[in-house]
Amino acid sequence: MIKIDKSGCKSFADEKLIDKYLQKALAGFDTLEGGQGAGNDFLGWNRLPETITKDVIDEYKAVVARWQAMKVDTVVVIGIGGSYLGAKAAIHALSHSFLPGKGMQILFAGNSLSEDYLAEMMDAICNRNVACVVISKSGTTTEPAVAFRIVKRYIDDKYGAEAAQRIVAVTDRNRGALKSLASAEGYTSFVIEDNIGGRYSVLTPVGLLAIALAGYDIDAMVRGAQEAQKECSKRSENNPAIQYAAIRNMLYDAGYKTEILVNYSPKLLYVSEWWKQLYGESEGKDGKGIFPASVSNTTDLHSMGQYIQEGERTLFETVLHVSKCERELRIPMDKDNLDSLNYLAGKRVEECNEGAMNATIMAHIDGGVPQIKVDMERLDEFNLGWLFYFFEKACGISGYVLGVNPFNQPGVEAYKKNMFALLGKPGYEELAVQLKKRM
Ligand code: PA5
Repeated sequence: MIKIDKSGCKSFADEKLIDKYLQKALAGFDTLEGGQGAGNDFLGWNRLPETITKDVIDEYKAVVARWQAMKVDTVVVIGIGGSYLGAKAAIHALSHSFLPGKGMQILFAGNSLSEDYLAEMMDAICNRNVACVVISKSGTTTEPAVAFRIVKRYIDDKYGAEAAQRIVAVTDRNRGALKSLASAEGYTSFVIEDNIGGRYSVLTPVGLLAIALAGYDIDAMVRGAQEAQKECSKRSENNPAIQYAAIRNMLYDAGYKTEILVNYSPKLLYVSEWWKQLYGESEGKDGKGIFPASVSNTTDLHSMGQYIQEGERTLFETVLHVSKCERELRIPMDKDNLDSLNYLAGKRVEECNEGAMNATIMAHIDGGVPQIKVDMERLDEFNLGWLFYFFEKACGISGYVLGVNPFNQPGVEAYKKNMFALLGKPGYEELAVQLKKRM
């Protein structure tokens, strides 16, 4: 369950203004639910959770069981953008911060073109029992294609006739190079439906398969998303997705152009990365859009804290607050008290973290930074499923309030065309000449 606390916006907006934006968000909600808005052929994610049956989940579990039987210990998950950030966010949030996880070790590749990163990843898998999930909706994205060519060659050479059993493709039903390759090689394949964009795909095989391979409970994650779908589909001012979309647009229109997603746990680092992609790609277009940024506190209070407290006053913060932590660790009493810390003796570390959060929220309000608080109960599969769906729903509504198509990403093509030209892809010769003159 997610709850929105907007009390940190009180000194920046009166109830009347908040109500005006709640009405705008209700209109955005109607556009989304009615399927009348721009990009309405990409709404497959909206009612997705209710369609995820036991049979669907069993197909992912069959891959887990097959690879467990083959004693696979390491899975390279290849994908970029929406084709990896959801799985990375969930696995990073659920894993022990220092010790090996519950299931197979997941290594992410194909999310950059760094030769060092890829070479080091290959070092890491050389003595392991390896499988690979390659994910690309278009099937033509350069970063994952390059990584997959290298990992495929390694798996083919090492495992010979068994190689095809060790590779799963997640791609379009009919189109793209990856689809053709997967069919030719006889890989197990999962489909990313046409009407679900990459950044809205964490609850499809794009996210769920890797999360299941890492040993986490995808049944619970889907149950969380299903409950979120019910709650966030209510046409009500109490719907947290409507509230969040309303407040952030109100702040944007009042000149707060950058939203910082704040967490108080390093486990949420990649949830922030996922959120940035979701909101940045969905809203940043037509010369508009809140710039999504993130900080991890209290770490970043010793880094970005100064700017947030006193820099340009165009920021607002959304604090992602996990109410209950999973572990208990108390600060011990020390009879000598040389560090003068006995005033904290007996307290849980999380109590200090909560104190830091509340102190920071008030300091930032006083410094002119409006605060939204998103409360989630705990950091487990169920609540992450809830959170993913909530943020997706709020993003669709928010994009319509802003007046953009939240489901396309035309701007991503610009760098791709230039890169193809500079790397000598056939068909881009003329552009290559123009670009080289500018270098
Ligand atoms: O959200 C999106 O649509 C993008 O971030 C894509 O996920 C990303 O560009 C990867 O695309 P593809 O899955 O086609 O390789």
